[in-house]
Amino acid sequence: MIVIVGCSSGIGAAVARAVASQGQPVLMVGRDEEKLRAVVRENGAGIRSNVRVLRLAADEADRFAARMTEAGLRIDDIEALVIPMGMSRDDDDGLVRSETMSELFQVNLFAVHAIVRSVLPHMAAKGRGAIVVFSSVAVFRSRSRNVGYTAAKNALESLCESWRHQFLAHGVRIITFRLGYVRTERLQNQKMLLPAASPQKVASVVLKKLRRGNGVVVYPRFWIVVGYAIRLVPEAIFRRMRF
Ligand SMILES: NC(=O)c1ccc[n+]([C@@H]2O[C@H](COP(=O)([O-])OP(=O)(O)OC[C@H]3O[C@@H](n4cnc5c(N)ncnc54)[C@H](OP(=O)(O)O)[C@@H]3O)[C@@H](O)[C@H]2O)c1
Repeated sequence: MIVIVGCSSGIGAAVARAVASQGQPVLMVGRDEEKLRAVVRENGAGIRSNVRVLRLAADEADRFAARMTEAGLRIDDIEALVIPMGMSRDDDDGLVRSETMSELFQVNLFAVHAIVRSVLPHMAAKGRGAIVVFSSVAVFRSRSRNVGYTAAKNALESLCESWRHQFLAHGVRIITFRLGYVRTERLQNQKMLLPAASPQKVASVVLKKLRRGNGVVVYPRFWIVVGYAIRLVPEAIFRRMRF
């Protein structure tokens, strides 16, 4: 079974549709069950028979394993875990209230940690499994915008690197997608300096990497050049750059 956490829209919805249309068993996890069902509803009829949904909000992530058991699902049946859940805010300028900062860390980091920690030992015991999480090219260089979001994604990348060290010998692959612009609703009002990928294209790369990927995947690939070039800009010059 492939589990996708945060698939009511954007990249998660595109991954869920792609997996569901292949006929593989898929569990869609999110805070709004009706929104999840709408993603894979067929011609106004019910959802596909290979798809199940599970209600879970980010602040309930510690209850992921318990919710699966209550729903009659087995956590050791999870072959792949994909977690596109994430949030950003327009007012994330580093001076937001603590509750806002906590929410940014809750959704982008702590909830991801809670879900992965409940699945990893089971995958390791079986000697196989793949986990995909989503970071951002924002981690190449911290700017005056998306401050809390970038801090949380940096921490997420560090966590994933540690998990890779710990669990590679146990047959578990941890794939971190470091994404550039992707044309989803969250980017509707954002000025894009470079071309954006479609969620469907990202979904197809995610499925490919689920089969045999590991490590950090920068996508679209031109961000490898752009990102590392930005890293080389001296701090004194970078401070004056406005983007
Ligand atoms: N789009 C981009 O250009 C871009 C660039 C870099 C990185 N990323 C990363 O890629 C991932 C997917 O992005 P996207 O553009 O597809 O985002 P999206 O369309 O906004 O989807 C985010 C998902 O997270 C869920 N979510 C948000 N807050 C939640 C909460 N408190 N509890 C439970 N679920 C919650 C949303 O559910 P609801 O529908 O219930 O809110 C939704 O399913 C994110 O981690 C994002 O940071 C995206």
